[in-house]
Amino acid sequence: MGELDGRTALVTGASRGIGRAVALRLAAEGALVAVHYGGNEAAAAATVGRIVEAGGRAFTVRALFGGSGAVDRLFEGLGAGLKEHRADGLDILVNNAGIHSATSIGQLTEEEFTRVLAINVSTPVFVVQRALPLLRDGGRIVNMGSAATRIANPQQIGYTVSKAALAALGPSLANELGQRGITVNTVEPGVVLTDMIGAYADVPEAVAALESITALGRMGLPEDVADVVGFLAGPRGRWITGQTIDVSGGTYLGPPTAG
Ligand SMILES: NC(=O)c1ccc[n+]([C@@H]2O[C@H](COP(=O)([O-])OP(=O)(O)OC[C@H]3O[C@@H](n4cnc5c(N)ncnc54)[C@H](OP(=O)(O)O)[C@@H]3O)[C@@H](O)[C@H]2O)c1
Repeated sequence: MGELDGRTALVTGASRGIGRAVALRLAAEGALVAVHYGGNEAAAAATVGRIVEAGGRAFTVRALFGGSGAVDRLFEGLGAGLKEHRADGLDILVNNAGIHSATSIGQLTEEEFTRVLAINVSTPVFVVQRALPLLRDGGRIVNMGSAATRIANPQQIGYTVSKAALAALGPSLANELGQRGITVNTVEPGVVLTDMIGAYADVPEAVAALESITALGRMGLPEDVADVVGFLAGPRGRWITGQTIDVSGGTYLGPPTAG
């Protein structure tokens, strides 16, 4: 018996990276998981394949965020998938899909900022709005923020602002939805080894610099984050709401220690 048996979950951006690890984690605990993706169908199908192979249940849902009608398409796909699996309602929503933007204030264009805000902020907001009638009492919402909001890095100003806005959603939503026993939390990873960080992980000096400012001395793995999301989504996370939780292995807790 898994602790999420009989539960349903929607994980956005679950084809790759952190979202995939979250989908695998929730499915391993027994949840039926909607594996959302934007364009990489093969990766989404592979996530579902891994879940099914391990004895779990999942289906893919395609919706390319950032364009009009994307949230409608997400919920059409979710509804169809749930029906096919003879399920209804939603217990867990993980707003994970997001994009990076590596520009300073001088380089940031209005077009880029608008796109980052659309995908990292507006989409999760309206995904929550659409999910509310489906979310059962006692449900869970987890938003994927970033430790970038705490570590001043001028080279990703648009991204940082978007993640700060997403985190700001948490407490207000939690206060409203608490009446229904629904918790809302934000998880803030540090640098995690996924496609998002691109070639960064291949530059030894960059990795060494990151490790030197991380208390636990290494880069994050998707599973490091997925385990925390799994905890928040499960019964043991029931008394945590409206919180922003740093999941960075202690990245930049203070000036780097000597040696
Ligand atoms: N990696 C890090 O160091 C790090 C650190 C802190 C926070 N985060 C946050 O964690 C979340 C996941 O990051 P990740 O590193 O796992 O990213 P990733 O490996 O690049 O994967 C991104 C996921 O989001 C989906 N996605 C991207 N743009 C989309 C769009 N326009 N419409 C729909 N889906 C879209 C992708 O779908 P497709 O496969 O279909 O493209 C994929 O499933 C993001 O919110 C990110 O900001 C990451």
